Amino acid sequence: MTNPYESTSLRDLLCGSVTRLDIGKRVSVCGWVAKRREHGEHLAFVDLRDRSGLVQCVVPGSVDVRSEYVIRVSGTVTARPEGTVNDKLATGEVELTDCVVEVLSAAEPPPFQLDERSEVDELIRLRYRYVDLRREKMQHNLRLRAKVNATLRAAMDRQGFCEIETPLLWAPTPEGAREFVVPSRLHPGDFYVLPQSPQIAKQLMMVGGFDRYYQIARCLRDEDLRADRQFEFTQMDIEASFVTQEDIFRFVSEAVLDAAEMATGERPPTIERMTWSDALDLYGTDKPDLRFGMVLQNLSAAFATTEVKAFSAPVVKAMRVPGGADFTRSRLDTLTEQAKALGAKGLAWFRVTADGLDSPLARFLNDAEAAAIAAVDGAQVGDLILIVADEYELACKVLGALRLVLGAPPVSQGPHHYVWITDFPMFEGVDEDGYLQAAHHPFTMPNLEDIDLIDTDPLKVRSQSYDLVLNGWELGSGSVRIHRGDIQSKIFTALGISDEVAESRFGFLLGAFKYGAPPHAGFAFGIDRLTAIFAGEDNIREVIAFPKTQSGADVMTGAPKQITERQTRELRLKFAPKA
Ligand code: AMO
Repeated sequence: MTNPYESTSLRDLLCGSVTRLDIGKRVSVCGWVAKRREHGEHLAFVDLRDRSGLVQCVVPGSVDVRSEYVIRVSGTVTARPEGTVNDKLATGEVELTDCVVEVLSAAEPPPFQLDERSEVDELIRLRYRYVDLRREKMQHNLRLRAKVNATLRAAMDRQGFCEIETPLLWAPTPEGAREFVVPSRLHPGDFYVLPQSPQIAKQLMMVGGFDRYYQIARCLRDEDLRADRQFEFTQMDIEASFVTQEDIFRFVSEAVLDAAEMATGERPPTIERMTWSDALDLYGTDKPDLRFGMVLQNLSAAFATTEVKAFSAPVVKAMRVPGGADFTRSRLDTLTEQAKALGAKGLAWFRVTADGLDSPLARFLNDAEAAAIAAVDGAQVGDLILIVADEYELACKVLGALRLVLGAPPVSQGPHHYVWITDFPMFEGVDEDGYLQAAHHPFTMPNLEDIDLIDTDPLKVRSQSYDLVLNGWELGSGSVRIHRGDIQSKIFTALGISDEVAESRFGFLLGAFKYGAPPHAGFAFGIDRLTAIFAGEDNIREVIAFPKTQSGADVMTGAPKQITERQTRELRLKFAPKA
């Protein structure tokens, strides 16, 4: 059907939107040749493709086009003859007949087949991304991304938020990753820093009275790339004043659930919550994948007076692997190696059999210990029980990692399970110089009930920070910010950030806070990650038009590459010889 928004001077409608209702009309369509078949000397069939789909065009005589030629076809919409209707094609009931073909652009043979069935090496896809983008999957993914953005924008606008752009050429932001720097021509020897996030800028917006800010923000971080990480990525970045954590949960939930409903057709239920300490205790991670069980269990009580050396440790943690009793010895050895690589001294395993526990350690257990193991998580004959005895956090994290290795489906596989993780610790350990390290960033407000612990037992201090987790991926994080100078000084001191360093790095923010800073809080979540999961993709590259490869290269443009001598001169750069 024609749509006034889709018709242009060259075409009347999109290839995929020709229907029975158009029968009899003479129309023009434009696109790329997907396939051409000659039918004797007098008839040629051309499948023409544009972003909306395919339509079959019947051309009298022969036609001099090849795959991926760009053509304009004018033809009459006709019902396909009986027996030639193609149910698999949206336009399968019709075809264009009596077609006149105009070549708009000839094309070399494509570097790979564009049909969805062929597996193409990703480097080739990225080298010819402009061809890859023509594929149905990429068309779908990027359009979905655009709709996610539009839905999120609508949700934020509805909630009274104002979209504001912040600078890309900026000063360091304390997000913890390595930064990309940009040399300044006008100030030789000085550098801009590309923002890891608009964190400081958005806090300044709060001082500036924009009490509900959002931005679909490009962020840049020079960190190792993975399935869920690129150098450049996009956040839905939010900040609001006169709010608590609860308000932020409400704003963010509304936007995320709207996007989920748009993408999946179903609105997920209210997002559940879990404290950071429960997440660690039950799932061994702060990003629990709640799509499956295998919840960790604490057997410390049963092993309090154990004589088994391997189990005399601060904590004995166990996990049931359903059906794992048939794992081969070599698989169990591999798991043990994985546990050791994660820092455990070892991994104990017990097969649950009809004759009791089967394990090299079984004969050392007393009856109560054996009974505790056999009862882990309602174990049945055929299951395997894994045990790590160690310091609490290490035992949890090792089993948590093995849980994912053994049980996690691909991240994008349904059901989509969202959870808020709350009450993160304020500090996550101590650096080489003996200073505490911020678990989120240095502007995060501690839980005011714990403020005295900063001096006495800092690792116990909880912060007012929170994450949103989806299928084991961290979708976003945020916190209530410190808006009071006295608390901020206390935190900087704990983090070993001297007054001079604080002044030189964040002086402008601290200065701004002296001129009337409202209490404020915020959040940011990754649009690449959210869209990938909606699109059924396990790597965010599949929802980014021009992503970098694992090694950070752009194989299409050749970036990063050398600059010209003139640029080097202008920027007054000098390079050390390559190591
Ligand atoms: P954070 O650093 O946790 O918080 O980032 C928020 C979210 O951004 C996404 N993300 C990434 N996505 C792809 N590639 C990356 N390299 C990458 N790094 C981060 C993730 C992550 O959860 N300023 C704070 C937010 C705040 O406190 O308001 C921040 O940026 O989905």
